[in-house]
Amino acid sequence: MFSSGALIDSNGYKNSLTNILSTKEFVVNFATLKTRDQMNLSSIDAPKDVDEFSFAKIKKRQSKLVKTPSVADSPVNLECKLLNTIKLKSNTRKHCTLVVGEVIGIYINNKFINKGRVDSTAMRYIARMGYSEYTTVS
Ligand SMILES: Cc1cc2nc3c(=O)[nH]c(=O)nc-3n(C[C@H](O)[C@H](O)[C@H](O)COP(=O)(O)O)c2cc1C
Repeated sequence: MFSSGALIDSNGYKNSLTNILSTKEFVVNFATLKTRDQMNLSSIDAPKDVDEFSFAKIKKRQSKLVKTPSVADSPVNLECKLLNTIKLKSNTRKHCTLVVGEVIGIYINNKFINKGRVDSTAMRYIARMGYSEYTTVS
């Protein structure tokens, strides 16, 4: 579940939301310390014909259960089918949409499975604190 809130293309939706509404699928990828610059580059408001995978030099991997490609360097990929979208009222934005998906496939890089348990600390994924500040767990 995530919220898409801004207007950049003609119908006011972000490209990601437009794509999800047309394909009914999406993939959630984890940003890590190693891929932080690519994550940041991929967040530009690019025109819809610009592939942010190529722009930010992010490697694609074919997903197993959905057509949307996965980020190859993400330690985890959550392959999702769209369940519902809910338009939220906002005081500041014209469009704010809550996107709810069902995870139908989970990919975890074997490198991060230790004695049958997921070693999330080893993934060094990052979390946003606010503004351009991030944190990681080690
Ligand atoms: C760390 C991070 C978190 C973000 N989270 C959101 C979010 O939850 N919702 C959102 O609408 N945009 C979020 N953004 C901004 C989007 O990444 C950006 O608007 C989007 O990539 C625009 O591309 P698109 O039009 O191809 O979807 C975030 C950006 C960064 C760097």
